Amino acid sequence: MSSDSPPAVHAEHLVKTYGDQRALDDFTLSVPAGSIHGLLGPNGAGKTTAVHVFTTLTSLTGRDAGTAHVAGTDVRDAAAVRARIGLVGQYAAVDEVLGGRENLVMFARLLGLRRHDARRRADELLGQFSLTDAGDRPVAGYSGGMRRRLDIAVALIRHPEVLFLDEPTTGLDPRGRTDVWEAVRQAAHTGTTVLLTTQYLEEADRLADRVSIMASGRVIAEGTPADLKRRHGGDRVDVTFAPDVTRTQVTDVLPAGPAGTALSVTESPDGLHASMPAPGGTGTMVDILRRLDAAALTPTDIALRRPTLDDVFLSVTDPSPKENR
Ligand SMILES: Nc1ncnc2c1ncn2[C@@H]1O[C@H](COP(=O)(O)OP(=O)(O)OP(=O)(O)O)[C@@H](O)[C@H]1O
Ligand SMILES: [Mg+2]
Repeated sequence: MSSDSPPAVHAEHLVKTYGDQRALDDFTLSVPAGSIHGLLGPNGAGKTTAVHVFTTLTSLTGRDAGTAHVAGTDVRDAAAVRARIGLVGQYAAVDEVLGGRENLVMFARLLGLRRHDARRRADELLGQFSLTDAGDRPVAGYSGGMRRRLDIAVALIRHPEVLFLDEPTTGLDPRGRTDVWEAVRQAAHTGTTVLLTTQYLEEADRLADRVSIMASGRVIAEGTPADLKRRHGGDRVDVTFAPDVTRTQVTDVLPAGPAGTALSVTESPDGLHASMPAPGGTGTMVDILRRLDAAALTPTDIALRRPTLDDVFLSVTDPSPKENR
């Protein structure tokens, strides 16, 4: 992927209105060709609306504003966009009575492939998604993960340039989820750009090259998972003390942040837990150990904790802070 190749998915200043509700409100997004992009956000943030605009299930009307392009094609040209994309929606589209192979052949025929080509493509996709052995069993007997993989296979029949997945693993058990992740990686491996929405931050962390976090119809943070953790999370040191250590002993020794807010001390039956930012990583941890040693306070546990995408998500979507709107 070269930096001058046009983005596979591109939206600028999109506004999409339902009645007097702005589901998208100055939504801007750019997804490089060949990448896996995660769209995160709380319920009602506008993730599905964005996917629907990109996949032309929702059309832009005169009351809407901004532009959206998929594979270089304006979404206002719905037929041209549809020929270049695959969509896996929230609900399975496959027929329960038919087997996986028959489903793939049927969809391939509906999409205009000849009988021979349809069968060959079905076999290829069954192999790619580890469904060959199950291919002739009715889908009704498939696990959730197998159905989702079949949905993805159906969406890939015509080698789309861009694959959209709206919450592909919601409701799956951990095994089903990892199987679907593997299927998404497979799709990306063959060159398809992937845009997926998810409520699971671990999913975005494990799967996505870049992540956009949405709230109230717009993107409020964007970057690689590692970038976002660095910018919005930050390392922390967590320290636990024996039950006889008092809160004052702890707050006297440990560094408080600006306005004394950054150090948090909580009580539990196994003693006090102190948690504080560690801008210097292990350096901060060593400093803390020195201070504790000088005060003859021995912790029962001390750990440097790397931020998770959950920390980032909570920090950027928290409605209370002053910076965001
Ligand atoms: N067809 C519609 N008619 C009216 N309002 C809608 C419609 N679709 C979405 N909305 C509103 O637009 C906003 C964004 O909804 P959307 O479904 O895009 O959010 P989401 O991020 O996908 O949420 P979830 O995580 O719950 O799936 C919500 O306030 C929703 O109520
Ligand atoms: Mg949704």
